[in-house]
Amino acid sequence: MSCSVNLRGVSYKHNKKDLFNDINLNLGHEEKIAIIGSNGSGKSTLLKIIAGLITPSNGYVEIFHNKIFNLKDFKRYRNDIAYLPQDVSNHFLCPTVIEDVIFSLRARGENKEDALLKADEILEELKIKHLKHRVIFDLSGGEQKIVALAGLLILKPKIILLDEPTNALDEESEKKIVNILNSIKKSMIIVSHHKSFIDSLTPTIYKLDNNSLERL
Ligand SMILES: Nc1ncnc2c1ncn2[C@@H]1O[C@H](COP(=O)(O)OP(=O)(O)O)[C@@H](O)[C@H]1O
Ligand SMILES: [Mg+2]
Repeated sequence: MSCSVNLRGVSYKHNKKDLFNDINLNLGHEEKIAIIGSNGSGKSTLLKIIAGLITPSNGYVEIFHNKIFNLKDFKRYRNDIAYLPQDVSNHFLCPTVIEDVIFSLRARGENKEDALLKADEILEELKIKHLKHRVIFDLSGGEQKIVALAGLLILKPKIILLDEPTNALDEESEKKIVNILNSIKKSMIIVSHHKSFIDSLTPTIYKLDNNSLERL
């Protein structure tokens, strides 16, 4: 099977205590999988390891079948992987939606006109064009999550990692996010403990519990 991400015996220790041990996981091409687990079980840490933000204590991650041993190895895949953190409120770099959505593209050297065209496309696709000139910090939690997602999708990543994308959202915002995620044909790992949300996205669910990852 062609895989986007493989975890090979990944372990992580924090303060000399094992957070998880010998985790193995395969994420197929354009497959969606979910990871659930109680608070503090290590879900966010595992996602940060896959996102190349933390190095595991043991084992390694493979991205497109290439072994990653350190953050330097990860660098060439940085553009392929999008990571939505659990708390998006510190994620924004610009005051308004449109400025923030084009920020990373501009940082990669794209000219302003092309970046604005791409932003229009993505805002249309995510049905948030009406928010284009709004100040991000005035938006609801749900709207902020979708704006953050737009800023990731505009970069055309191949792998998307989402940490509790519906955390603290109302039912309507959750439905919007379900529709968006179901319309995206990319490899995806979704961390959440909303069972109904996960069930509407994928049948492939893993649970992080007792330091290990178990397929449900
Ligand atoms: N770098 C770190 N600094 C502080 N605490 C950490 C760090 N890495 C892991 N932890 C601890 O590990 C545990 C798991 O955290 P986390 O991955 O956020 O779990 P989850 O997302 O499942 O709630 C928590 O108790 C957290 O305090
Ligand atoms: Mg977490």
